[in-house]
Amino acid sequence: MPAPEILPDTPEGHTRAAALLKEGRLVALPTETVYGLAADATAPEAVAAIYAAKGRPSHNPLIVHVPDLATAQTLATLPAQAEALARAFWPGPLTLVLPLKPGHGLAPAVTAGLPAVAIRVPAHPAMQAVLRSLQGPVAAPSANPSGRISATTPAHVRDGLGDRVAAILDAGPCTVGVESTILAPGESTTRLLREGGLPREAIEPFTGPLVADTTPGARLEAPGQLASHYAPRAPLHLGGTPHPGEITIGFGATMGDLTLSATGDLAEAATNLFAILHQADALADQRNAPAIRVAAIPETGLGRAINDRLRRAAAPRD
Ligand code: TXA
Ligand code: MG
Repeated sequence: MPAPEILPDTPEGHTRAAALLKEGRLVALPTETVYGLAADATAPEAVAAIYAAKGRPSHNPLIVHVPDLATAQTLATLPAQAEALARAFWPGPLTLVLPLKPGHGLAPAVTAGLPAVAIRVPAHPAMQAVLRSLQGPVAAPSANPSGRISATTPAHVRDGLGDRVAAILDAGPCTVGVESTILAPGESTTRLLREGGLPREAIEPFTGPLVADTTPGARLEAPGQLASHYAPRAPLHLGGTPHPGEITIGFGATMGDLTLSATGDLAEAATNLFAILHQADALADQRNAPAIRVAAIPETGLGRAINDRLRRAAAPRD
């Protein structure tokens, strides 16, 4: 297979990406959170190719990306609370798990056979342009091999997936840096299935207290929430005193070989998180380091999503 085509972030690049998707090919597309490994969500073979390219278990469903709320409403039913959240936060780093509507037209593998679909309206202008050019829903998990560190740059995509994608739309690094927050809005309460780029503090004024349902491995409702995930090759430890030879990642006043944010800014730390983990892993390789150690991050705002990713990266592997 040839190396992936690198598409520019121009109208021509967007049209070319949509044309490849239409042909059933896989294209890595930028979103404001992370790069997505995209396919036409209505094409069963294209969706099957996503699972194959990532090595993703087929019981772990995919997020469907649409350009706006009106398109989301053609695929799924939005309870009142879901619609309020959509109006407040779409486009943006929020995914809603919603009951499918009859005649939705999605390939069954997108939802892994579940009666609910995870939908997101991304804000990234390039992704928006591709969705509007394709005029159809796009299934896209994060563009990394299953269980590994997510991709926030085209180089990460190429390193992780190589020629398993037909093309990469290069719009530079992602700004938010962690994946979308996933919510399952119910009649009275809303469950939080994954911490992400939209902090809990922003959501709860709309929903009341969220019911956290993010325990790694506890259930398969968001089966991506398996204990070990986002794993660098080297073992990763959180907090504590560094041991000799470890690669250290600092935050704020805690210095390291690398830092998530020298000023202790959580938004900057989220933006940098996956790139720093990729770099730390490369350094650990180079120096034959026994492990990577990350400074403690406050459990507030975007710090919750950062800590969630770090805990999974540190979790015991199979
Ligand atoms: O920011 C993001 O959300 C990125 C960009 C590319 O949009 N996508 C992303 O996809 O993070 P992925 O596949 O890495 O994570 C999707 C998560 C998984 O944990 C999956 O189990 C959950 O969403 N999910 C998908 N469909 C679901 C459904 N119908 N019910 C419950 N959870 C679902
Ligand atoms: Mg992922």
